[in-house]
Order: sequence, then C-alpha cells, then structure tokens
Amino acid sequence: MELQVWPDLVSLLEKLNGWTLLVVLVTSLLIIDLVKKRRPRNFPPGPQLFPLVGTFVDLKQPLHLALQKLTGRYGNIFSVQFGSLTFVVVNGYQMVREALVHQAEIFADRPNIPLLQEIFKGFGLISSNGHIWRQQRKFASATLKTIAVSFEEKVQEESRYLVETIEEEKGQPFDPHYKINSAVSNIICSITFGNRFDYHDNRFQELLHSLAETLLLIGSFWGQLYNAFPLVMRWLPGPFRKIFRHWEKLQYFVKEVIAKHKENLDQSEAGDYIDCYLKEIEKFKGDTSSYFHEENLLCSTLDLFLTGTETTATAIRWALLYMAAYPHIQEKVQLEIETVIGQSRQPMMADKENMPYTSAVLSEVLRMGNVVPLGVPRMSTSDTTLAGFHLPKGTTLMTSLTSIMFDKNVWETPDTFNPEHFLENGQYRRREAFLPFSAGKRACPGEQLARTELFIFFTALLQKFTFQAPAAAPPTFAFTLSLTRCPKPFQICALPRD
Ligand code: HEM
Repeated sequence: MELQVWPDLVSLLEKLNGWTLLVVLVTSLLIIDLVKKRRPRNFPPGPQLFPLVGTFVDLKQPLHLALQKLTGRYGNIFSVQFGSLTFVVVNGYQMVREALVHQAEIFADRPNIPLLQEIFKGFGLISSNGHIWRQQRKFASATLKTIAVSFEEKVQEESRYLVETIEEEKGQPFDPHYKINSAVSNIICSITFGNRFDYHDNRFQELLHSLAETLLLIGSFWGQLYNAFPLVMRWLPGPFRKIFRHWEKLQYFVKEVIAKHKENLDQSEAGDYIDCYLKEIEKFKGDTSSYFHEENLLCSTLDLFLTGTETTATAIRWALLYMAAYPHIQEKVQLEIETVIGQSRQPMMADKENMPYTSAVLSEVLRMGNVVPLGVPRMSTSDTTLAGFHLPKGTTLMTSLTSIMFDKNVWETPDTFNPEHFLENGQYRRREAFLPFSAGKRACPGEQLARTELFIFFTALLQKFTFQAPAAAPPTFAFTLSLTRCPKPFQICALPRD
C-alpha cells in the first residue's frame, strides 16, 4: 500500500501544469512562513500576523506613534513582527523599569539588527554584545569620566565659535541645522580625535552630511525594509545602498586619524580617546582574551561620533524651535540668565543649580523633543518572564520611551510644552518617570556630556540672541523619524540682544 503512494504523487504532479505547481508551491511557502511566525506559548499578544510581512502597522503615521496606539488595545506589553524580526514592545515607566533595571543582566544584549550588523560587524559600543561590549563599555565610560574634567572648558570654547557664526547671519532667517551639528560634533571630535574643525572645512561638513543622511536612511522605510528582509535586500539596488557608501567614507576618515595618532603617540601624555585606546591595545598585546584591537577602536570611535553628534544636536534644534514658538518662556529664561550670569561672562555648569527655570525648560525640551522615541533595541540573554509573559532567550525588546514621556498618568499636560512639569515652589523638580537617556546596563554613557552641552550651548545662545520664527514661516513641530526624532528643516532668526 505504502509503495503505491510515491508513484501516485508523481503521476499527480505530472498532470498539473506549471501555473498550478507555482500556486501550490507559493501557498505551501506562505503556510510554512505563517506557522513559523506563530507566537510561542504565553508570548505577549499583538495584532494579527500575515505571511511574509508579519504585522501591518499604519504607515501613515510614524512608527513610535503607530505602536503607541496599539497600547490602547493590548496594554503595556505586546508583540509585533516586521518581516523576519519579532519585537516585544514594552510601554510605561513601570514596565520599562522592570525590564531594564530589575532584569538588567537579562536585557543587557543588543539584537542582531541586519543593517547595524552589516556596518558594525558586532564591534564597537552600540551593537556589540557579551565580553566585547563589557570591555569596550568599561573602557569608554572610564575614559569619558577621566576626560570629563575638560568637557566644560571645551563646550565653553566651542560656544564662542557658535555664537560668532550665528552673528554672521545678522538676524536674517537661516537654517541652524549644520551650525549646531558642527558645534556639537566638534566636542566629540576634540574628545576622540584631539582637535576641532572650522565650520567652513569642506571635508568636515561632508562628513556631517554623510552622518546625518546615514541615520536618516537607517530609520527610513528602505532601512526598515532591509532589516525585515535582509536576505533579499542584500542583492537589490536602492537608496539604502548609500548607507554603505557613506559608512565607508566615515571609516576611511577615522582610519586616517588613527594612523596619524599611531605615528605621534606619546606614552607619557594622557592624550585624547584614540591615544588612550592605542595605549590599551599595547597594554593587552598578546592577551588572547582581549578585544582591544584596531577594528574595535574604529567602531567605538564611529559610535561616539554618531551618537555624540546627532542626539545632542537634535535636542538643541528642538530647544531653539520651542523658544521661537513660546516667546514668553524664552523671555523668562533670558531673565534668569541676566540675573545669574549677566552679559559679561560665559555660562558655566555651576550656574545650573541657581537656574531652576532654565533647567526645567531643558528637561521639558528633552521630554517633548523625545529624541530617541523607541530607545535602542535590547535582547534577552536567557529565558525570562515579564508581566507574566514568557520571553524565550533571544527575544528582542523595544522600549518605548515615547510611552513614558507622554504618559497621561504622570504628566499634568502631557501634550503641551510646559516647563512647570519640572518645577515645584520655584525649585527644579526631579521626575522619576523621565528617562530620555534610558536606564539599566546599556543606558546612555554620554548623559553627562550631553547635559553639559545642552546647558552651556543653550544659555550661551540665549544670552546673546533672541530666537524668532520668520514672519513668513511660523514654527511647526513637524519631524522626521530616523534613529532620532528630528525637526524637519526650519528657518529661524537670531536677533542680537543689546
Ligand atoms: C540629548 C542627548 C542624548 C540622548 C537623548 C541619548 C539617548 C540615548 C539612548 C536612549 C540610548 C539607548 C540606551 C539603551 O539601550 O538603553 C543611548 C545609547 C548610547 N549613547 Fe546616548 N544620548 C545622548 C547623547 C549622547 C552623547 C553625547 C554620547 C557620546 C558620548 C552618547 C553615546 C551613546 C552610546 C555610545 C550609546 C550606546 C551604549 C551601549 O550600547 O552600551 N549619547 N543614548
């Protein structure tokens, strides 16, 4: 009886024509894909899954808002799938804290996001894991702490250049994007490369444009398509190919800088980040368990350049936009600057504790600006339970910082720019449920630097200028979502203050 089955099947296939075979094949593949896509038992629920695509999200709105909408239906924890990637989305302060702080060891890894994997190859700071990450992160945090003593001086010096270049606009409308990016990037360049660049340096500007476009493309529809279907997209042409070209250019530049540092390395001087790293490579030469090598140096430096430029520069651009939109708030900040700093000296970090209103405005900029709306994905290193759901080892977590920044149960007026959220009886009010730099083992290591830059650049600018939207272009809060959420290009007038 069994022997007859195979010839029967062969004769059946012979009777089918090519088209029917194709339909049978495709249907079988779709069914296999759907079975593979089934959520494991006791996995967080989510919208219906379709073959190949996974979850359909409303692409008419940005991803972080589309996901925010799903909390209404599924609560603070749910799952979505984009092509071959599955994400558990975690919302609200308590749930994010439970994952990132209470289960810090378990959610200390990064998932394999194809585009990031392609460019970083598992090296550096942001997308490495395990021993490599631990070693690189420890070194980066310690070195940034050592160099931190000079942060303030560097930012003060750079703020003078920023004020000068904005003065050149003579109160006329201009797009502040690359002036601000240049100033912020120069700080990370001074820390890592040991020098700053002139704002008119063509190569520097080209690198900043490459960096901005790379981030934009990674977060774009094409970037998401690449991450969802890497096996297919790897062979196709498309705008995302620019990511790799830009990345090569950035790598080439940093490699040149590293080569020069190697030539001039002085063991007796503390030096910049690259110098410190080269000394570490020397120290661990011959140690097979060490990951201090040039590939990791290259990727860590690019990580710092990328994360250290875009995030803070975006926050400062939001700050100027909010000041132009709310002149009465800008006036109050300027009044505080007059009272505490005056016009004759530069702002310094020690001023901050005497400036609760300005501090509250900057925190509100970070809340409403929501610069990294979905955090950076994490991955579980072992099986675990979250909110009663079973998450197997290797589950990718997306922590929605948006859900925290706009939580109706925490913020009095969540959708309005309102510095009062951070004030109490005229003093600065710390809010627990405010995590712009995330939390846990992989929380942002650049927080102190970012806060120094935000405070000094912002106060130095408002000390010298009043920011106003041009009459023909009132301020809007339109944004583009890449890895960061950045304002769409806008024009602003910087009117010199007497
Ligand atoms: C307003 C400015 C900034 C914001 C809002 C911000 C926010 C963040 C967030 C949300 C993460 C993800 C953390 C996680 O996975 O939980 C992150 C990671 C990171 N940030 Fe920042 N950041 C800022 C400035 C900076 C600066 C100035 C630097 C450079 C020193 C920096 C370096 C990094 C690095 C290297 C990581 C990856 C850390 C790791 O994977 O271990 N950031 N940042």
